[in-house]
Amino acid sequence: MKWVYIEDIAASKDQDVEIRGWVYNTRSSGRIRFILLRDGTGHLQATIFSEDENNPLFKIFDSLTQESSVIVRGRVREDKRASGGYELGVSEIEVLQIAKDYPITLKEHSTPFLMEHRHLWLRSRKQHAVLQVRAEVVKAIRSFFDDRGFRLMDTPILTPSACEGTTTLFETKYFDQMAYLSQSGQLYNEATAAAFGKVYCFGPAFRAEKSKTRRHLIEFWMVEPEVAFADLEDTIDLGQDLVLFILDRVLHKRKNDLEELERDTSRLEAIVKPFPRLTYDDAVPRLQEKGSEIQYGDDFGAPEEAIISELYSHPVCVTHFPSKIKAFYMQPDAQRPDLALGVDFLASEGYGEIIGGGQRIHDLDLLERRLKEHNLPPEAYQWYIDLRKYGSFPHSGFGLGVERVVSWICGIKHIRETIPFPRLLYRIYP
Ligand code: 4AD
Repeated sequence: MKWVYIEDIAASKDQDVEIRGWVYNTRSSGRIRFILLRDGTGHLQATIFSEDENNPLFKIFDSLTQESSVIVRGRVREDKRASGGYELGVSEIEVLQIAKDYPITLKEHSTPFLMEHRHLWLRSRKQHAVLQVRAEVVKAIRSFFDDRGFRLMDTPILTPSACEGTTTLFETKYFDQMAYLSQSGQLYNEATAAAFGKVYCFGPAFRAEKSKTRRHLIEFWMVEPEVAFADLEDTIDLGQDLVLFILDRVLHKRKNDLEELERDTSRLEAIVKPFPRLTYDDAVPRLQEKGSEIQYGDDFGAPEEAIISELYSHPVCVTHFPSKIKAFYMQPDAQRPDLALGVDFLASEGYGEIIGGGQRIHDLDLLERRLKEHNLPPEAYQWYIDLRKYGSFPHSGFGLGVERVVSWICGIKHIRETIPFPRLLYRIYP
């Protein structure tokens, strides 16, 4: 008998097939027994109908528990009443293992309990839907860049220097030297951009974020494009196109998963280019009007980002932050050198920053001065300084955090559900 996956079941209508999976739930009604099966690709109702109470299949059915592993054989039938439109008329059940006392029952559990059982929690419908969306987001990102002639450059995870400030660095030993886990591939991307023109890296980033928030992971995934000769405006344009491409793909391809998550997608569907723009100078008084205690020169926190995103139905691009609160590599504005040519994209509906980026310093003297001001050791950045000595070029890029985007699209309030095994401030298990 042919082994098929539930997501492909329609192609086997009226045929005898084999489903390999797990028991999600069971129920009985008169002479009928129902097994809700899951196989990783979907859920399927398998039914046993018999006039004979002593039917051996009923005996096997009675032994089945939640998450027992089984191979079920039978005929695929179209049935409008079944979710998905098909069911399996069971002729044979092969039990691989009976699961005893599966800890996650179909009722409510506390989040700490579920986090402790994350390795099992992944099997539940909602978690499955979120991670299906995540996989689609990743696929969309790769297609977007690959189809636009960007070259994928894998940047190192073990690095000798900081990219995004020294406070969130993860230290590790590198034989007899000190090394850090990468916070961002950007600096290396600036070198590969000079070799390939337009590049992207896509990998894990590590930040020892000491505060416990709903939006920060210790280990997260970031895609970072970098484009030689592009300025801030070019990078904003690229960011907008990427966000729209991801939304379009996921809204079309993961409709069922978003339905499972009960996500109201109407606000996502309405998003078009150009996204509203706001400079830091304009944002601060508007925030103060809305009750924020922000002072000019402070960075935005989650409450400020939430207020701004409530002002618009679209993602918002905030630009021209004071250089003082931004990374050492940011190009200053020509007219207002106290401001950086950087951009943050704040997602709609209060989901906060999904993209951070901007134009990089390409002047050698200025870069050396900034490294000094930020107390960064010039020896560790010698190779980076070289890029400003040998054919220096204006260039720009950004980083988009995968988990932030998945939270936003799925309407998930806490980022921990958007990655299979989240690393959090107080959690590294499982
Ligand atoms: O704004 P960030 O810190 O920018 C950079 O790392 C630049 N070097 C990127 C570049 O220009 N190539 O981070 C970029 C994005 C944020 O907008 C956010 O989406 C995500 O990375 N991010 C996090 N996501 C989850 N947990 C964290 N702790 C994150 N920190 C940043």
